[in-house]
Amino acid sequence: MSESPANIHPTFQRLQSRESKERLIGQSGLVIWLFGLSGAGKSTIAEGLEKRLHAEGRLTQLLDGDNIRAGLNRNLGFSDADREENIRRIAEVAKLHAQVGVVTLVSFITPKRHFRQNARAIIGADDYFEVYVHCRFETCESRDVKGLYAKAKRGEIPQFTGRDSAFETPDASAPADLVLETDEETAEASVHRLHQAILTRIRFPKTHHA
Ligand code: ADX
Repeated sequence: MSESPANIHPTFQRLQSRESKERLIGQSGLVIWLFGLSGAGKSTIAEGLEKRLHAEGRLTQLLDGDNIRAGLNRNLGFSDADREENIRRIAEVAKLHAQVGVVTLVSFITPKRHFRQNARAIIGADDYFEVYVHCRFETCESRDVKGLYAKAKRGEIPQFTGRDSAFETPDASAPADLVLETDEETAEASVHRLHQAILTRIRFPKTHHA
């Protein structure tokens, strides 16, 4: 754990243990971090997975960029510094959820590799499952569910991801745990693959990974 700021005295060791909380609800906490371009299908897949897990009796939480930016992070914009702070806060919030056993689905563009590395470091590799929701820019642009690509093309959205602000794909040094190809497969197929991939990770007691 990183050092505390001056005059701050955390009392983490006095809290009820994570294990006893996970035992209470019969599952292990995990953060499933979906990242990718706007319109790639992150929210649709996160919503589909949450619905499925909920139906199976799992306690879940879904943190989504547009929702969080309407509340907790409403003071943040889309500069690199603000996006970094956006992701840092969400990683901290997601960690708090995972530590009480909640299966936490996170859906943010998370455009830079070092943002994702930072999220992994904050949450802890054992509790972090990273999913690249991959879709070509042109496909996102043609879907344009929120009408943002058309607006960006007209120059009405500064720093638009994939256009004026870079999106860094995962590379070999930091591969995602799973890649979903939403250009090529249906949302149902993506949800199914993701569900299969995380099932052993949310079982109590936790299955530890190398
Ligand atoms: S992130 O880059 O900081 O991870 P985040 O996921 O929170 O982004 O927010 C992305 C959402 O904000 C998009 O889905 C879109 O609806 C909206 N948005 C508004 N302005 C921009 C912009 N300049 N670039 C990308 N998305 C934007």
